[in-house]
Amino acid sequence: MSKNSSEIIIRNMREAAIAVSDNAYSPYSGAKVGCSIITTSGDMFVGCNVENCSYGATVCAERNAIFSAVATRGEMRLSIIYVYSEHGWTPCGMCLQVISEFALEDTQVIVGNRQGKEIVYSVKDLFPKSFTPVDLSKIKKNK
Ligand code: THU
Repeated sequence: MSKNSSEIIIRNMREAAIAVSDNAYSPYSGAKVGCSIITTSGDMFVGCNVENCSYGATVCAERNAIFSAVATRGEMRLSIIYVYSEHGWTPCGMCLQVISEFALEDTQVIVGNRQGKEIVYSVKDLFPKSFTPVDLSKIKKNK
């Protein structure tokens, strides 16, 4: 892919993540997080954090974006993930577990903050020893 077209993709992802962060339902933390993902088909999906008065029922922006891709289009192979928040938070552990289920060898996670600073990670950087479906397939069936 040319430098120009990847810059356009990142710009679209940034704008979508910032826009969807505005829809965050976060009366408890006050944090507005937005996530856009591009799947291998080239389609983009978005999600924001949705909190709950039973705090543990809160769902992060990243998982909402991924679950939307699966639910609405059956898409789950992640090419790029862009996460926007005021302070440039990296995905939490639970989101990394969900990301790793659907990540490819070279899936990138771009983290952006309100100042426009962006850091690019690989999923492997963020979660090098993830638990994967391959681990589960190693269980010996005792029958
Ligand atoms: N949050 C996300 O949306 N993504 C993350 O990876 C970190 C945390 C949200 C969840 C909650 O609504 C708020 O940020 C504070 O934890």
